[in-house]
Amino acid sequence: MPINHPRGAIVTLDGPAGAGKSTLAKKLAQRLNLLYLESGAFYRAVALEAHRRSGELLSSEWLTTFLADFELQVSPGSQGLKLAVNGRDITAAIREPAVSEGASLVATLRPVRQWVLARLRQLAAPGRVIAEGRDMGTRVFPEAEVKIFLEADLKVRARRRWLELQAQGKTIHLDTVYHDMALRDQRDRERREDPLQVPEGAYRLDNTGYDPEQVVEICITVIEPYL
Ligand code: DC
Repeated sequence: MPINHPRGAIVTLDGPAGAGKSTLAKKLAQRLNLLYLESGAFYRAVALEAHRRSGELLSSEWLTTFLADFELQVSPGSQGLKLAVNGRDITAAIREPAVSEGASLVATLRPVRQWVLARLRQLAAPGRVIAEGRDMGTRVFPEAEVKIFLEADLKVRARRRWLELQAQGKTIHLDTVYHDMALRDQRDRERREDPLQVPEGAYRLDNTGYDPEQVVEICITVIEPYL
């Protein structure tokens, strides 16, 4: 049953890499007038900037010191959040495939997860958000009004990601994308800190056979009563 909250509703969208979460979240945010909170972007920003500063493999201790005075500037944009460091826009740089691996590694570390969690909760305080990631419904917003878990076959996810990269002019083998994705899936599901899990009470959707517009319509039907 929909519950009236003093703040606006929080919608969480979790699932493995390449399931189509960000495309879906962007469309839902536009159609339902919600703020799109892409949590993966925060892990990517930490990985990119930490690597830029140290240039080497990072320990939990090093990252704790780094995060203590790391100021990430966050502002809402039409396609999601815009991120900058000291006025330098990093919104595009964090999407590079090389950053995906680093993000998946730093995301296994507790101090990094706590840093991201605090920022996400602050941004979501007024409500009317769709928060997308791996642990939005389980850890960051366990009290969310609507929880969606989006899945698709690994082969289909790898192919979609490969097509996306092709469209951006990036040459990479489909096999490489498949294996990288399988590895990240395993790390996301098996890590000790907030692993990828289906949240209790989540609406589970396997979009393998659906076209993206159908998925948007299904989700709108699920979310709308709570807004
Ligand atoms: O969704 P993405 O590919 O941009 O995420 C990059 C990495 O960040 C991914 O390997 C897992 C991690 N991540 C996470 O651990 N928890 C989240 N809520 C979102 C992303």
